[in-house]
Formats: sequence, structure tokens, C-alpha cells
Amino acid sequence: MKHLISPLDLSISELEEILNLGQAIMKAPDKYSSICEGKKLATLFYEPSTRTRLSFEAAMLNLGGKVLGFSSADSSSASKGESVADTIRVISSYADICAMRHPKEGAPVVAAMHSGIPVINAGDGGHNHPTQTLTDLLTIKELKGRLDNLTIGMCGDLKFGRTVHSLINAMVRYENVRFILVSPNELKIPDYLRQEVLIAGNIDFIETSELEKYMPELDILYMTRVQRERFFNEEDYIRLKDSFILDAEKMKYARKDMYVLHPLPRVNEIATEVDDDPRAVYFKQAEFGVYVRMALIMTLLGLA
Ligand code: CP
Repeated sequence: MKHLISPLDLSISELEEILNLGQAIMKAPDKYSSICEGKKLATLFYEPSTRTRLSFEAAMLNLGGKVLGFSSADSSSASKGESVADTIRVISSYADICAMRHPKEGAPVVAAMHSGIPVINAGDGGHNHPTQTLTDLLTIKELKGRLDNLTIGMCGDLKFGRTVHSLINAMVRYENVRFILVSPNELKIPDYLRQEVLIAGNIDFIETSELEKYMPELDILYMTRVQRERFFNEEDYIRLKDSFILDAEKMKYARKDMYVLHPLPRVNEIATEVDDDPRAVYFKQAEFGVYVRMALIMTLLGLA
């Protein structure tokens, strides 16, 4: 049995197989409509979600399986003090696979240690969000046709943004990937990522607060939200929340074949006027999340 806790749990070739399967599903979804008949997915969400939970549920339903679960800690026995370890022991007899989102970093690892079924990390605190990374990789592969030889701009909250951390960890494994990391000083990437991943891996990266200056160099611009829920201090959040707003004027600096991704939800960081630009692909990206989660569920259940 295999779990997915970090994007690095998958080798490059396993990742490639999942992305290829996701692309095959995208082209002919009906071919896979009964592959999970008789199987159940549990969604254990201790933190709010729209895309991740519902795309997991849509994925399992598209595969002919069934879904069960909870969408907040308040509506589960976590509110009575039940541990993640006890919860997963019970859920293991109710479902065949589970997706867990938890505000505490490492909670899905604890779940995996006590689980009788595959556990998928659907986001743990500011740490990792591997299925968002699979979604991002599928989007880049489908639209750019490659995962190597790319200059990727990441903009916004690079400190607490788990989607950013997961995507950097995944992309450094490909040849000639360069990062332009755009953030306010207070929201730069964590030091472990700078030292242990980028510097140790001899990866080309620039940390800056100037988005326009680097726009013409980018193949991908990955925008992120400044996350109110990760701040201890409301004043800091208010001061930093609108540090970078991508609008039609800034898009004039970008290449014709650059794509704007965003894991969503968006607040103010992308003006709605950008939505009609053909390079704005964040809604398509959210749709691709269903296909790649279908591929992941099939793979972890041994049905791929
Ligand atoms: N991208 C993402 O994780 O969105 P949700 O928080 O809505 O699941």
C-alpha cells in the first residue's frame, strides 16, 4: 500500500505515469467511468476547502465509486477530542482510500502510520499540498508540452504558501528550471527551502519584489493568495495582503505564450479583468485537478 504525503513520495517515472494517465482521462473520461465500482473514498477535511474536496469527490464519482466524509473538524468527533490516529483506524474499515486536509503540519503522516488504507495529503498547514502540485504539473505539461527548461515566476505569499513549497520541491527535479520568487520581504520562501532545496541543489533562482521587471522572462507565472488564516497578527495581514495585484497593464509585459496559474481561491491578487486573457488558465487548472485526482485514485488503488 502506498500513501501520498509529499510530492517527493512519487519518483519521476511514477509521476510521469500519473500525468500521462491524467491526460488520457482528459481526452476520453467515459472510458474510466466504472473502474472504481464498489470502491469508496473518504474525504476527511479538518480545514475548509472547495476545489480539493469537491474535485476528489467528483474524481471518485467519475470513476464509478462512492464518497463519504466530513468537511470541517466541527462536524466530526475531532471536536470531542478524538485523535487523527483513532479516526483513521475507524475510517479504514469504512472506505478503501482517503484524502485528508488538516491545519497541523504532519497530520497526514500520523494518519498514514495508523491507516489500513492509502492516505492522500490534501494539504497540511503551510507544509505540503501534493495533489495541487499534481494539478499544477498536469496544467504545465498539457499547455507548455514540457516540465523542463522553464522559467517559473512565483508571486505572493511564498512563506506560508504550501502550494508553492510543494511545486518548488517537485520542479527542481527537472532539468534547467529557473525560479523568479516575487514577494514582500516578510513573505519570502522559508529558509529550509532556500538552503536545503534551491542552494543545495544548485538551482538558479532570484528573490525579488519587482514583478514587472521579470515578467518578460517568464514561461509560467504562479500567483498565490496572501492567506489571512496563516497570520498571527491581523495588522500584518492587512499591510501585506495587496502587495502584488496582477492586472491587464502588468500582463502587457508578459510573453504571448506565458501562462498564469493560481491554485485558487483568489482574493485581490489577480484583477478579474485578467480572466478573459487567454493566458489566464487558473480555471482550466482547477478543472484539470479532477483528471489528475482520478489518475491518482486509480494508481493508489492498483487499478491503473
Ligand atoms: N487549491 C485549493 O487547495 O483550493 P481549496 O482550498 O478550495 O481546496
